[in-house]
Amino acid sequence: MVALDGPSGTGKTTVARKLADRLGAGYLDTGAMYRLVTLAVLRAGTDPADTDAVGHLAHDVHFSIGTSPERPEVRLGEEDVAADIRGPEVTQAVSAVSAVPQVRELLVARQRRIIADVLAATGGIVVEGRDIGTVVAPESPLKVYLTASADVRAARRSGQDSAAGRETSVAAARESVERRDRLDSTRTASPLRAAEDAVPVDTSELSIDQVIVALAELACRRG
Ligand code: C5P
Repeated sequence: MVALDGPSGTGKTTVARKLADRLGAGYLDTGAMYRLVTLAVLRAGTDPADTDAVGHLAHDVHFSIGTSPERPEVRLGEEDVAADIRGPEVTQAVSAVSAVPQVRELLVARQRRIIADVLAATGGIVVEGRDIGTVVAPESPLKVYLTASADVRAARRSGQDSAAGRETSVAAARESVERRDRLDSTRTASPLRAAEDAVPVDTSELSIDQVIVALAELACRRG
């Protein structure tokens, strides 16, 4: 198993999926799970800042999440919401929802079940998030903490947005990633931070392929 943590815009998702593919392992995007609950909160008209209401609602959200690195499915009920969970409204509200302790408790339990099932079935999984090495799977044999400079992260996020048909200036993307990282790293419940034994990888000057090669080598030695 590989635990891949780090702030937004470090290339985590691309790296995690390609690495899983290369290792013949499963893949779990835990950020997508927090985004799913956030989408359900917004659709229910619930205020993301209303901790009690969000905590209650989270218990009734029925979703499914795929673990195939090629095309991980994301469904709310039966509906395919892979695009909806990446929209600006969800991105804006997700840090508030993910700071609610009941939401984390529910999702971490579910993440651990999925990891156990995939490990039993395929023998390997790459899991990406913010607290995988620290909380979800501290026993993971390989923990990696991806970083990148604020400029690089903003440029990558802006590029991803425009590829998805949402034009965002680099300045706006920078403000958005910095705001989310500030909220994610200062919350009380499982804040974003590197596990003490995580391998730090700064992706600012590296291509995706260079990162994959480095991580695949580490995974083969430790994974
Ligand atoms: O990875 P992604 O940017 O899609 O994550 C969206 C949000 O979900 C993060 O900004 C963070 O608030 C939350 N998250 C979390 N713990 C995780 C994964 C994501 O709190 N393990």
